[in-house]
Amino acid sequence: MKNYLKSKFDASNKTVVSVVDELPLWSAPFGQTLFETVNLRPSMKVLDIACGTGFPLIELAGRLGSSSLVYGIDPWKTATDRIKLKLKTYGIRNVKVINCIAEKLPFKNNYFDLIVSNNGINNVPDIKSVLSQCRRVIKPGGQFVFTFNLPKTMSEFYDIFKDVLGELRLIKEIHKLEEHIYDKRKPVSVMDKMLAEADFLNVKKVRNSFSMRYLNGTAFFNHYPVKLHFLPEWKKILPGNRLEEIFNNLENRLNKISEEKGELQLTIPYICYNIKA
Ligand SMILES: C[S@@+](CC[C@H](N)C(=O)[O-])C[C@H]1O[C@@H](n2cnc3c(N)ncnc32)[C@H](O)[C@@H]1O
Repeated sequence: MKNYLKSKFDASNKTVVSVVDELPLWSAPFGQTLFETVNLRPSMKVLDIACGTGFPLIELAGRLGSSSLVYGIDPWKTATDRIKLKLKTYGIRNVKVINCIAEKLPFKNNYFDLIVSNNGINNVPDIKSVLSQCRRVIKPGGQFVFTFNLPKTMSEFYDIFKDVLGELRLIKEIHKLEEHIYDKRKPVSVMDKMLAEADFLNVKKVRNSFSMRYLNGTAFFNHYPVKLHFLPEWKKILPGNRLEEIFNNLENRLNKISEEKGELQLTIPYICYNIKA
């Protein structure tokens, strides 16, 4: 009997249930565009850079099927351990996971038919080195697809953040916030230049956006992705002894605006690069 005909979903198995419902909604819109862009062919060698807890790695392996081999790399060991649990639980055999940084890829030259990265390449310390590594390991004619959110991400929020810092005379912190945004979300012109320098010249781009809607600022700051991913970065650039004051003012301002408008709507513009090597 075919393997897939034998499989059952055991809804009482805690491990199975723990790995099923896991993709953050934050990653999904970027990922959807990525999946609409990649070319699927048999027997591909694929690399997912900065695969985190396994997206798009595991989904891509499933969409390609067993003739392809999909590698995921990420230095985050706890996350890659989780991927291994998912692979075991789902019985997936065409995925390999390696703990390493994208600046030093442990693969031979011209190895991959497809390289993807969902919100990953913008999060590495040295984008130029990563692009030159991608150039080295991709086959001539291979496809390189990656997504990231653009500098205007949540500008409705960041504009108020900067206003509040200005009112509190924290001018140095406004510059630090702008540097933080530049660090994580490169303008398209800057990415285009870095790609050209890495000899990626056949470049197509799709821009898109989605909204994150909240009842108000209080809901926003208490939302777990904000607490997990955004707040620690903001706290790093603000004076510890003024955090309470800053966030009080910010939350009050956001709540006032949300009351007037009926909600707090934040826009996430993003881009998907589709490159032929
Ligand atoms: C926003 S997460 C994206 C995860 C996943 N691709 C997704 O779509 O949900 C960024 C990832 O970049 C990884 N990362 C950070 N520095 C890296 C580096 N130098 N090389 C490779 N990955 C890195 C982090 O560990 C994290 O998993």
